[in-house]
Amino acid sequence: MSSTASAKPVLAVLEGRRQTIPPVWMMRQAGRYLPEYRALRANAGSFLDLCFTPDYAADVTLQPIRRFQFDAAILFSDILVIPHALGREVRFEAGEGPRLEPITDGRAIAALPPEVDQGTLAPVYETIRKVKGALSPQVTFLGFCGAPWTVATYMIAGRGTPDQAPARLFAYAHPKEFQQLVDRLVEASVSYLVEQLRAGIDAVQIFDTWSGVLPPEEFQRWCIDPARRICEGVRAKVPGAKIIGFPRGAATQLAPYAAQVPVDAISLDWMVDPAFIRTGLPKVLPVQGNLDPLALLTGGDALDRAVDGVLAAFADRPLIFNLGHGILPETPIAHVEQMLKRVRGA
Ligand code: CP3
Repeated sequence: MSSTASAKPVLAVLEGRRQTIPPVWMMRQAGRYLPEYRALRANAGSFLDLCFTPDYAADVTLQPIRRFQFDAAILFSDILVIPHALGREVRFEAGEGPRLEPITDGRAIAALPPEVDQGTLAPVYETIRKVKGALSPQVTFLGFCGAPWTVATYMIAGRGTPDQAPARLFAYAHPKEFQQLVDRLVEASVSYLVEQLRAGIDAVQIFDTWSGVLPPEEFQRWCIDPARRICEGVRAKVPGAKIIGFPRGAATQLAPYAAQVPVDAISLDWMVDPAFIRTGLPKVLPVQGNLDPLALLTGGDALDRAVDGVLAAFADRPLIFNLGHGILPETPIAHVEQMLKRVRGA
């Protein structure tokens, strides 16, 4: 295994081997901060058209690799293609974010199909095959899905919300029905990730963007248990599949997450205290992160100091350098170049 992995630094880190220069990629590295993305986006139709047109999606996936030589490419798609493939209406309004047909009671959940429609998702797998053929051998190709809790917050509310209150209320008021929704999303995520891996993906990330709003008991039930089931389900079909977990905002609950979810690495948001990571997570567990996207937006000395801080905080364990969340659309490209120089020491 080590001979193939050593060609891909991100995979080597996921196998627990610290690299002298940490490999780097950025969450949301394909997106609006890139002029070439904005140009293609303007001609691609709706956002879902972009996700489901393999020529476009493959090109957008490769744009940040061509420009910055990141160590990983992340498949261009979205976490909300899963509700779409479960027959829910999903739209992306320009400048407003996602809009779904909200779920207000258990009937809509009972009516969900038992399986995702793989025909709807087929263009995503086609994108993977196209990108795979174009990537150089040292670049790791990452797939992803949204974690069931995070996807459910959008399905229940029908949109992004500041505090995910609609889903939290629904889960308290209708725990059985909410469990059914989470079960459906676990199964859908497993089959989606398995097909991504079969199409040529090297490793996958589970994005739990909104896990930080849950108290411990709910965090256990809606974040830890589903993530563990996704890892087990994926590896039952793809033995040894490499998986990164991103329970954003989990804070001290990173410790039970790491203890119970068999991920190969944990992606850390920018708020975590490195001192807690040193004591709360196993020393051998690889981490990914965790530059504050606002430090990247700021640039200058603030950015250099923040990059140095991340490198120093995780100097003693396998590290994939990344942001603590997605790059902001207003971020200057020169700041990304500055960050890369600082990390790579070039
Ligand atoms: O470059 C990459 O990271 C790969 C592609 C990717 C996108 N979304 C493309 C996208 C990935 C991995 C995601 C994940 C995603 N999508 C998450 C989890 C990670 C996170 O950032 O928290 C979430 C919560 C979503 C849901 C979503 N998609 C929202 C809330 C929005 C609107 C807000 C926004 O940033 O525009 C999207 C749209 C979206 N997904 C865009 C992109 C590039 C922008 C759409 C556009 O170009 O008009």
